[in-house]
Amino acid sequence: MKEQVDQIIEKYRGDSTAIVAILHELNTTFRYLPREALERVSAQLAIPLSHLYSAATFYRSFDLEPCGEHEIQVCLGTACHVRGSELILEALSRRLAIKPGETTADGKFTLKRVNCLGACALGPLISIDRDHHGHLTIHQAERLLEAYKDEDD
Ligand code: FES
Repeated sequence: MKEQVDQIIEKYRGDSTAIVAILHELNTTFRYLPREALERVSAQLAIPLSHLYSAATFYRSFDLEPCGEHEIQVCLGTACHVRGSELILEALSRRLAIKPGETTADGKFTLKRVNCLGACALGPLISIDRDHHGHLTIHQAERLLEAYKDEDD
């Protein structure tokens, strides 16, 4: 882990405005922000650990807990909400037996609610591993989930 963290730090060394970019790369690399990685960034760049945690909690796209193999984001922004995305979230939550923000016990899926995925015309919209799936019905969302489950078997 140390080497990967150091490579990311090196890319941004000297750029005091790069905290968010560093956190983003760490989050993408490890699928969350391990404390060990944040401590290393703090020590290497002389940024208080508390600042890193404040930034990490301010931006909802960062994860402080390990994510599942597949990350499902259900958009509950206005455009998606009025087209029924809350019902899709409930259906997926029921199928996975987890609440939004949680990861299944087998570590396969993390379910998240987000405020906008940036493609409002496609609502209701979800993304799985950053692939967008729009104009979804509950049934289609459930079938999509099954396809990801089958893929892993
Ligand atoms: S509100 Fe759902 S993508 Fe923007």
